[in-house]
Amino acid sequence: MAEVILAGAALDRATTLLDAGEVVAIPTETVYGLAGDATNGAAVARIFEAKGRPRFNPLIAHVADLAMAERIGVFDPLSRRLAAHFWPGPLTLVLPLRAGAGIHPLVTAGLDTVALRMPRGFAHGLIAGLGRPLAAPSANSSGRISATCAAAVEADLGNRIPLVVNGGKTPVGLESTIVKVDGGRLLLLRPGGIAADEIEAVAGARLERGAKGVQSPGMLASHYAPNAAMRLDADAVRPGEALLAFGPAWARDAGNAVAVKNLSPAGDLREAAANLFGFMAELDRSGSPVIAVEPIPWEGLGEAINDRLARAAAPRDKPLPPT
Ligand code: TXA
Ligand code: MG
Repeated sequence: MAEVILAGAALDRATTLLDAGEVVAIPTETVYGLAGDATNGAAVARIFEAKGRPRFNPLIAHVADLAMAERIGVFDPLSRRLAAHFWPGPLTLVLPLRAGAGIHPLVTAGLDTVALRMPRGFAHGLIAGLGRPLAAPSANSSGRISATCAAAVEADLGNRIPLVVNGGKTPVGLESTIVKVDGGRLLLLRPGGIAADEIEAVAGARLERGAKGVQSPGMLASHYAPNAAMRLDADAVRPGEALLAFGPAWARDAGNAVAVKNLSPAGDLREAAANLFGFMAELDRSGSPVIAVEPIPWEGLGEAINDRLARAAAPRDKPLPPT
């Protein structure tokens, strides 16, 4: 099983392992990441292996500062403005890859673009000390619920990786928002931890959704899947279901629920985002075959929450193995 070390004492051990081309699960402000040296092909291959992730799905390269980012990606003025405003933080920018940047082609899945993000917290200090970018997808088996606490990482990947750095519960709880500037247009590739309207306010431009051919390759229909089936926008609970609630008003027949978690009794979307993956996993452990989910409003972070719920509810091509 993986060694688990509290973030305050883990910097040296994590650095040694990463320098040796190993992978390490680390906390970021969004979700836990499974990190490896982005310039080391063997390390990046270990990330794909540990997650069981398809190789056509590229990874985000995490940087410590703007100088490191500029050595990897070619910034246009709007991307630079967004980076200056939102970094460090839950924003990922897709940029043209700079020739000779040293990023291993497995990271970008051979694309001529690269996804860059400057994380907060332990991850940030780790990259600064290492002096090299870290490739880090969310620290979960491919297709499963993203991990927002060290125990979830350990349960899912603990027998496949040497170290989990425990930084407690991640404050944002949703993966980063991914945007791309494309010939003057601002494209939303993945809704996430920064609400689209906040980005639009700083950009002074509308974020375009659903642009053809430029979606994140990893935006597979079925993702974030618990073992239970998900029933969205439920206004009533059927016998035997678990209930994922939101806000002060309860769904009808809530008494039918075999297990209940409320994402935010006060109806706060930030709180709901932070609780989403942990509560989905907890209700899944109740063993109920169906998780009924109360409607989540679409404003602000609600867009990203509804995106994750829709993927969790999407038909799966093959049954998931029991965990
Ligand atoms: O908050 C986050 O973003 C977390 C933490 C660990 O940083 N990371 C994360 O990574 O969510 P991952 O691998 O689960 O999701 C990365 C997404 C995938 O959907 C992938 O397809 C997309 O980024 N992506 C990576 N490179 C891309 C590129 N060049 N163009 C378009 N999409 C890209
Ligand atoms: Mg992921």
